[in-house]
Amino acid sequence: MSDQPRLAVIVVAAGSGTRLGHSEPKAFVELRGVTILERCLDNVFDSSTPVQVVVVAPVAKLASARSIATRSAGPAAASVSVVAGGDTRQASVSAGLAALADSVETVLVHDAARALTPASLLDRVVRQVESTGSGVIPALPVTDTVKRIREGVVAETVDRSDLVHVQTPQGFPRAALDGAYAVATAEHTDDAALFSAAGGEVVTVEGDARAFKITTPWDLRRAENVLGVSRGIRTGIGLDVHAYDEESPMWFGGLYWPDEPGLAGHSDGDAALHAVCDALLSAAGLGDLGTRFGSADERFRDARSDVFVRETLALVTGAGFTVINVALQITANRPRIGARRGELERRLGELVGAPVSVSATTADGLGMTGRGEGVACIATALLSS
Ligand code: CTP
Ligand code: MG
Repeated sequence: MSDQPRLAVIVVAAGSGTRLGHSEPKAFVELRGVTILERCLDNVFDSSTPVQVVVVAPVAKLASARSIATRSAGPAAASVSVVAGGDTRQASVSAGLAALADSVETVLVHDAARALTPASLLDRVVRQVESTGSGVIPALPVTDTVKRIREGVVAETVDRSDLVHVQTPQGFPRAALDGAYAVATAEHTDDAALFSAAGGEVVTVEGDARAFKITTPWDLRRAENVLGVSRGIRTGIGLDVHAYDEESPMWFGGLYWPDEPGLAGHSDGDAALHAVCDALLSAAGLGDLGTRFGSADERFRDARSDVFVRETLALVTGAGFTVINVALQITANRPRIGARRGELERRLGELVGAPVSVSATTADGLGMTGRGEGVACIATALLSS
């Protein structure tokens, strides 16, 4: 232990998550691409105090927990240990307590399943333990009406004015919690109950709505919603170039352009739509047009490229993405885009189902497009998941 921490956080992550019903133990289930355990630890490491972190994991997941904890700790990796949990939460906490450094004076016990608990709540609990010397639990008022039921019949309405919901992290003076665990015989539903049973005093601090426990699939959904779309934003890029072909009709950007040379290609050569498709596939991590709709595929011989956009969108939305917008940059001497830009943006917007902005330039006489040999299109796409 590098700097003799006075504070430790035991993160219990050894449960199986029966009520979540996932094939992985709950702490190893992903929440918008990052495991519940890693999200929880990221918040723990947001706290500014030097702290020992003990992760209590299922035996079968020790290696995975170790790599998650090391990644989340970053430069503080030396202060993290991972130990195997027990059959009950209480046994898991006990295993965590056994791994504490001698220097630790205050200990927080925290459920990994409360993945979105902000560091400010940990800090609030620590301050209160240090100032009172008591056990400290975060609590929120009960807002629903509460009934007592006897044999399926409502017996009475309970006065809820002195009832609270209790969360973690729960904080304790280390020596007193060690003592309480040493004499515990019964199973308790939380550490505060075990601490009280051993004669310790427990007080509350204000809880935090974000510290809710992920227990059921609905809780997981709620956590995803709380995180919002911002973690699921992806950008992609696509480029396509086609030579002019005087013999073909000109289809470009999904529009017909009379009196213009067409474009060469296995399909209609619509470089604008192809660039848009590649940008969408790139953002979704689904490869590109060539790999998805190979030129050997007879279905696409002389096909209008609208079909590629529709197939691409089906792949992208099938992978769980929504298109936010697409931007298309055309470099070409012909067709002249200016007069039909609005029409082009509307047509592309219909095809993609999201706003598409189009800009165009000539290449100042330089290169393939400048010499009038063909068109080049670059597109970017933004997706959310
Ligand atoms: N926990 C633990 N060891 C156990 C049981 C639970 O470390 N033997 C941890 C869980 O990993 C979780 C926290 O205690 O972070 C709260 O428990 P709970 O929400 O009940 O999680 P699970 O026991 O995994 O879920 P379930 O009861 O639905 O099986
Ligand atoms: Mg449980």
